[in-house]
Amino acid sequence: MLEMTRPQTLVALRGIGKTYANGTRALEGVDLDIRAGEFLTLLGPSGCGKSTILRLIAGLDAPSGGVLTRAFDNLGAEIGFVFQEPTLMPWASAFDNVFLPLRLQGQSRRTAAPSVEEALSLVGLADFAAAYPRELSGGMRMRVSIARALVLRPLLLLMDEPFAALDEIARFRLNDDLLRLQEELGATIVFVTHSVYESAYLSSRIVVMAARPGRITAEIGVDNAAARDEAYRVSAAYAATCKRAAGALRDAVHGEDL
Ligand SMILES: Nc1ncnc2c1ncn2[C@@H]1O[C@H](COP(=O)(O)OP(=O)(O)OP(=O)(O)O)[C@@H](O)[C@H]1O
Ligand SMILES: [Mg+2]
Repeated sequence: MLEMTRPQTLVALRGIGKTYANGTRALEGVDLDIRAGEFLTLLGPSGCGKSTILRLIAGLDAPSGGVLTRAFDNLGAEIGFVFQEPTLMPWASAFDNVFLPLRLQGQSRRTAAPSVEEALSLVGLADFAAAYPRELSGGMRMRVSIARALVLRPLLLLMDEPFAALDEIARFRLNDDLLRLQEELGATIVFVTHSVYESAYLSSRIVVMAARPGRITAEIGVDNAAARDEAYRVSAAYAATCKRAAGALRDAVHGEDL
């Protein structure tokens, strides 16, 4: 029998604080491990520091206190970042948008083509390489943005409310596609959302945060043995997770001025 090994920690945050130049205490005393292979969701009200945590993990900003360690060095290649807005170049085709990270690495269009085409087909857009963002739906633009984040095959995918602007049908489809992608790639995902339902559907672990100062108030482990499908959306297990997450979120915002 194979010996079970402890999941590797990809990123460790210890006592992390972040105070912005204007004095806003965006984070205080945050302890968090990102474990290899997990689907971790940060769930919390507006302003609790979710985006700040992602930016610190990605090295786009530095903490003001505490220690952040990563099990890898090449942040540009090992971290894929998907922003809330698809942030595509409007003058470039889907292919060229996904090609960008490889181009920045100095690869030619020809050498990069197989990787770009593979990333586009991973997100179901194999036939849309030549399309421009204006010709694509909101959901498809978000898929291009995900393909661009995946094209370097990062260890860690950071997603900041990627589906918030989509209608529910598109969001459900992208949720399922994202889980399939994670399984195929064995990626580790840190996902930010306001939605209790989305967090309960996607996550293997939910971290609930509160604001002023931004901090972690609860952690919910999710049993993800059950397949995530239409049956799961109406199952007792899913309802129970939603209830726990909603309760923790209610406690987190309790006492705030809403
Ligand atoms: N560059 C900045 N300068 C000053 N304050 C900032 C800056 N970025 C964020 N903040 C403040 O830090 C706090 C945390 O912001 P952050 O964007 O991380 O929250 P969030 O949880 O992502 O919120 P939302 O759900 O609205 O996206 C907020 O009070 C915000 O106004
Ligand atoms: Mg945010």
